[in-house]
Order: sequence, then structure tokens, then C-alpha cells
Amino acid sequence: MSSGVEKVVCVTGASGYIAPWLVKLLLQRGYTVNASVRNPNDPKKTEHLLMLDGAKERLHLFKADLLEEGSFDSLVDGCEGVFHTASPVDFSANDPQLWYMLSKTLAEKAAWEFSKENGIDMVAMLPGWVSGPLLQPTLNATLEPFLKLVKGAESVPFISPRWVDVRDVANAHILALENPSASGRYCLVGRVLQFSEFVKLMRELFPNINLPEKCGDDHPFASYYKVSRERAESLGLNFTPVEVTLKDTFESLRASNFLNV
Ligand SMILES: NC(=O)c1ccc[n+]([C@@H]2O[C@H](COP(=O)([O-])OP(=O)(O)OC[C@H]3O[C@@H](n4cnc5c(N)ncnc54)[C@H](OP(=O)(O)O)[C@@H]3O)[C@@H](O)[C@H]2O)c1
Repeated sequence: MSSGVEKVVCVTGASGYIAPWLVKLLLQRGYTVNASVRNPNDPKKTEHLLMLDGAKERLHLFKADLLEEGSFDSLVDGCEGVFHTASPVDFSANDPQLWYMLSKTLAEKAAWEFSKENGIDMVAMLPGWVSGPLLQPTLNATLEPFLKLVKGAESVPFISPRWVDVRDVANAHILALENPSASGRYCLVGRVLQFSEFVKLMRELFPNINLPEKCGDDHPFASYYKVSRERAESLGLNFTPVEVTLKDTFESLRASNFLNV
């Protein structure tokens, strides 16, 4: 039996891409999960959660919106840990990536200040470009370029070189909760891949797919760098090889019929 038995934790933004994996692994480890969704009446946002093993007994869905003051009080109350993944970002804005980065920076700064003022033991997880199998029925924004690529797009608008598997991201969150010495910020990047390396790997994995020679925007791939895995591995995290992530992403998109539409 895991140390998580009978512990109650909260996951915000449970209908997203990363959070369902977090909910799945938490239920597997025996936790009771209070999970927030914005619309509990929308089956596309809830069915994949309610179908998880252990959900019937230990998953409680709550309606909550970050833009409504006090809306999360009841689901956070009495929890041993809170995994805050919900993020209200409007991707219709001009230069959405810039706004996204600003929103994440300001949100993390506010979270550190709030934790300090209120004596909360906070740990921040900073994943790279998350990919891997989907549990939810809708396509996540970060998988869109991958889908376009495998469907034969002539150029790719943007694919970050910092790959991390969604299952590793979920696992890292739980390891941080369960490890009392976890502290500060953890970069979660399994592998940095230049676009040419990415294309080479994809050609080996999927010889029948036509892949473009060049990324539409070369800038993100201009310099070569690595992101240390040391701190994340010190939590006990074993990163999934990027080949496995790419293969599983493809298989998952195929199984969900995204490749045919
Ligand atoms: N995916 C990545 O590559 C990546 C990389 C680094 C960091 N992150 C961060 O990791 C977290 C989860 O990412 P993800 O890819 O799983 O995102 P996602 O699929 O877009 O999920 C975001 C979740 O936030 C919820 N949400 C949005 N606005 C909300 C609001 N006003 N109140 C309450 N909930 C709200 C959404 O609810 P609805 O379903 O109702 O819209 C959704 O469930 C985010 O904070 C994201 O910024 C992601």
C-alpha cells in the first residue's frame, strides 16, 4: 500500500491535458481527489475522469472558476496537497506566446508571495513542451503542431525543442508532494531536440510520413543547449525516452481518430 492511502488532495483544471494524468496516477496511489472543472455538466470535460480506476469511490468533481473569488475554497479545504494546473490564458490575443509567458511568470510570482505570507510549503514545476498520450477527448494546444506535422504539413509554425512526457510531468508532481525535502523550482525537460534531430528521429519512427526539411520559424532552434535533469531525477523521476513519447503521442492521436479528420 502506498503512503497516499486516505489522503485527500486537490487538482485544479482537471479537464485539461496534464491534470487527467495527475488524477489517474493519484487515484492509482490511493489518494482521494477533489478535482475542479469549469463545467461539470459537459461530458467532454468529465467523462474521461469519471472512467478512471478508483474514480467512483475517490474522485469528487467540483465546479470552480479562477476568475470567481472564493470559488476554490470548498475543494481545497482539508486537503494535504493542492496541484494547481488550471491556467486562464486567452490564446486569441495578439502574440499569444508572449502573453502566455507573462501570465505564467506573474502567476508563479504571485503564488510564491501568497505561499510565503500564508506559510504554505510550495514547490513549482516547470515543464517543457508536454507531449504523450491524451486521456481527454479534445486536442491540447501543444499537440496541434505535432498533429499537423504527422498529417503532412509543409512547414511547422513552432515546436519547442524542450520535450517532456505528460506522464513524467504528472509523476513529478506526485513525487514532489511525497518527498518532504522537495523545495523550490523543478525544470521538467526530458530531452532538448534541435529541429533536424527531431525530424531524423521522426523519420526513423514513422518512415511513411512526409516531414518538412525546415521549421517555419528557425529562431527557437538557433542555439544548442541542454536542460539539467538532475534536480527532477533527485525526486526519483525516471524520464521517459523521447522516442517512446513520440510513438505514444502518435498512437494516441490515431486511436482518438485525430489523424483522420
Ligand atoms: N502543455 C504544456 O506543454 C505545458 C508546458 C508548461 C506548462 N504548462 C502548464 O501546465 C498547466 C496545465 O497545462 P495543460 O496543457 O494541461 O493545459 P490545458 O489542457 O489547456 O488545461 C488547462 C485547464 O485550465 C482550466 N482553466 C482555464 N481557465 C480557467 C479558469 N478561469 N478557471 C478554472 N480553470 C480554468 C481549463 O478548463 P476548461 O477545460 O474548462 O477550459 C483546463 O482544464 C497549465 O498551467 C499550463 O500553463 C503546460
